[in-house]
Amino acid sequence: MRGPRFHSKLTDDAARLNASIDFDQRLLPYDVEGSKAHARMLAAQGILTAADAEAIARGLDQVVEEWRAGKLVLDEQLEDVHMNVEVRLTEIVGEAGARLHTARSRNDQVATDLRLYARAQAAELSKTIATLQRALVAQARAHVDTLMPGYTHLQRAQPVRLGHHMMAYYEMLARDRGRLADAARRMNQSPLGSGALAATTFPIDREASARALGFDRPTANSLDAVGDRDFAVELVAACALEMAHLSRLGEELVLWASQEFGFVKLPEAYCSGSSIMPQKVNPDVPELVRAKVGRVIGDWTTLMVVIKGLPLAYNKDLQETQEPLYDAVETALLCTRTMAGLMAGATFDVPRMARAVGQGHLLATEVADWLAARNVPFRQAHAAAGALVRAASARNLELTDLSLAEMAAIAPDVTFDETLFAVLDPNRAVDRRDVIGGPAKTRVLAAIAQAESDLNAIP
Ligand code: ARG
Repeated sequence: MRGPRFHSKLTDDAARLNASIDFDQRLLPYDVEGSKAHARMLAAQGILTAADAEAIARGLDQVVEEWRAGKLVLDEQLEDVHMNVEVRLTEIVGEAGARLHTARSRNDQVATDLRLYARAQAAELSKTIATLQRALVAQARAHVDTLMPGYTHLQRAQPVRLGHHMMAYYEMLARDRGRLADAARRMNQSPLGSGALAATTFPIDREASARALGFDRPTANSLDAVGDRDFAVELVAACALEMAHLSRLGEELVLWASQEFGFVKLPEAYCSGSSIMPQKVNPDVPELVRAKVGRVIGDWTTLMVVIKGLPLAYNKDLQETQEPLYDAVETALLCTRTMAGLMAGATFDVPRMARAVGQGHLLATEVADWLAARNVPFRQAHAAAGALVRAASARNLELTDLSLAEMAAIAPDVTFDETLFAVLDPNRAVDRRDVIGGPAKTRVLAAIAQAESDLNAIP
């Protein structure tokens, strides 16, 4: 928006660099919402006539309709969404449209639009994450009794329930939704009325326009309100962390779908073939999800680098905070939606998981615990169990293949008896871990029930 002060046009390159309409048209519905609230507030304050405000509101509704129908011609010469909307509005309603920008600047306008966009996207992403959580909880319920090896260092460690493993992701995602809610609460203040930087001389009612837009209150400082994008940084940070969680799930699915693991079969609608190897069913979706976190972390980095060192108040640099914001939320939404569908349709190879539990001495801790419960100091018990594992491994046997006599010979400083064999059972091993947060069946069922009730309580 240059006006008569200028003698010459922008060069083509300068116009291209300056324009944001390619990407900021996403803000159009929010821009219209903000402008309607502004116009009605101006009318209530006697700054515009009621007739003008209503003409503006009607005209703005038509602009959104034209845009939704793909009929609005967006002009790069008009720079951004705000000027495109205002120019079209004025074509439709005439002089009233030219009065809309009274007591407002594009600086408080764009800050308002972006907060409305960010608030809506945070809610949408949270809802989508809940869909993925529902799929995880359904799998957890279906697989409460499915045993699998739990891993540390990607080495078989102790048996757990597949339901418990699924619920671990449920918990991560619950915290992700918490972070989105926190960010949404903090951003929910209205910059409208902050003007270009120093508010306005008109007797506006900032409380009224804030209320009309569903904000909790107006922002407290005009310079801060137009110059700040930390709400975008917070939202993108929450997206990045959620994507990091999805990337871990993606990685496990890639591993589990391999022939080496063979724990899971992914639904075909989420897999690709190979252009050369006819037998291949590739886990492209979890691979891409695993990779996409990279760009979201990049979006966060871009935002931080753009805002660091900026002097107050508004600077055009801030326009560069828009694309990373859009990219991060749109990437997180797409990945989360896709993973929700994939998880709902994944099928697990229960016998294969059970077989994996039986190999690799996952019950060695049971031996150590059994001795420690009989008053052997845990370090000594650990050493004795380790000696059994070493001896069994050397002969290609599992612990349960050793006789009591053999055990006594291998670990002569401790005493074993028949009752040891009762704890060398993976089901018992899991159920004896009956503490808060543990994998015992009752604990997992309780966690699932709690999750189901929390998910049902989401409005
Ligand atoms: N498209 C601009 C942005 O996103 C809108 C604000 C323009 N303000 C200005 N003083 N040029 O930041």
